[in-house]
Amino acid sequence: METQRFGTFLNGEIWPDQQGVHINAHGGGILFHQGRYYWYGEHKVAGTAGNAALVGVHVYSSPDLMAWKDEGIALSVSEDPTSDICKGCVLERPKVLFNSRTGKFVLWFHLELRGRGYEAARCGVAVSDSPVGPFRFLGSLRPNAGALPRATHFSANPDIEFDGHEQDYFLKRDLPGGQMARDMSLFQDEDGTAYLIFASEENRTLHLSRLSDDYLAHTGDYVRIFPGRSNEAPALCAVQGHYWMITSGCTGWAPNPARAATAPSLTGPWTELPNPCRGTNPANGLGPEKTFGGQSTFILRVETPHPHYVALFDLWRPDNAIDGRYIWLPIDFTSESHPIVRWTDRQAI
Ligand code: GAL
Repeated sequence: METQRFGTFLNGEIWPDQQGVHINAHGGGILFHQGRYYWYGEHKVAGTAGNAALVGVHVYSSPDLMAWKDEGIALSVSEDPTSDICKGCVLERPKVLFNSRTGKFVLWFHLELRGRGYEAARCGVAVSDSPVGPFRFLGSLRPNAGALPRATHFSANPDIEFDGHEQDYFLKRDLPGGQMARDMSLFQDEDGTAYLIFASEENRTLHLSRLSDDYLAHTGDYVRIFPGRSNEAPALCAVQGHYWMITSGCTGWAPNPARAATAPSLTGPWTELPNPCRGTNPANGLGPEKTFGGQSTFILRVETPHPHYVALFDLWRPDNAIDGRYIWLPIDFTSESHPIVRWTDRQAI
């Protein structure tokens, strides 16, 4: 067994920050801004209590993805019991983009209201002048109320006429109040347009929703992806003129096989590809059938020495949430006709 030391991360092991404390940024995402990487994630506490948000969104920064400085809590939960993000809510999968038009950092996350399990299915948004916060919570909502998705061939019913197709039922039900939004990620296209992609319609269908120019609101322009396929944990990237997505199936904290998909345009058509995973995590004996014990959260574009892509997974520990681990694996776009994510013991960057 390799000796672990600062700056060498082993997948699925403890990942120390510069103080030697295991990084506490689960379900996270990374922003690259002015030569520095910022890692935002769910701050978890010990035990099963840690599955709820008792602290907020934690942020770390690094020049090289190896030395991580603890930058503290970027968005704190509120002590005010009337706040949507009051302590004890569920605040998951935070992601941040920088908006060059407004000069602001915008944080989106999955929010469940305290004491209501997972029924609220909202997205929340917060804004900051600095990448490390403090972020100011602006509100939470179910997006795209009253708006029909772009009619596409993804749906069994391209005109969304609700003529009895089962997979359109929840879309129609939620049309007046807005669509459900659970596991999510942000994506910024080359032209600066930002999208929120999230598990909607009772986790049955992904929605990719275009955000306003300031990234603070949904526009009502959205597409449905793989209706009825029950994808969650979506992560997106753009490589060589194509868009790529990694997702999981829906089995809560328990791992399941990862999925991959590609499209020539964000709005599709999306084509599902084979499970990208190869190899085995020796610590738990799990391979592609369980995504090495992990679940996707983000695809990181690493800028040096040349742009390449790394898939980020969480290895959840719901019985002791703070002990959740990270698995970062390179995405190989060259070796087969679809992307390959091969197990390596060492964190790949
Ligand atoms: C998972 C989801 C996690 C969390 C969990 C709760 O499916 O990916 O983010 O919501 O369910 O059971």
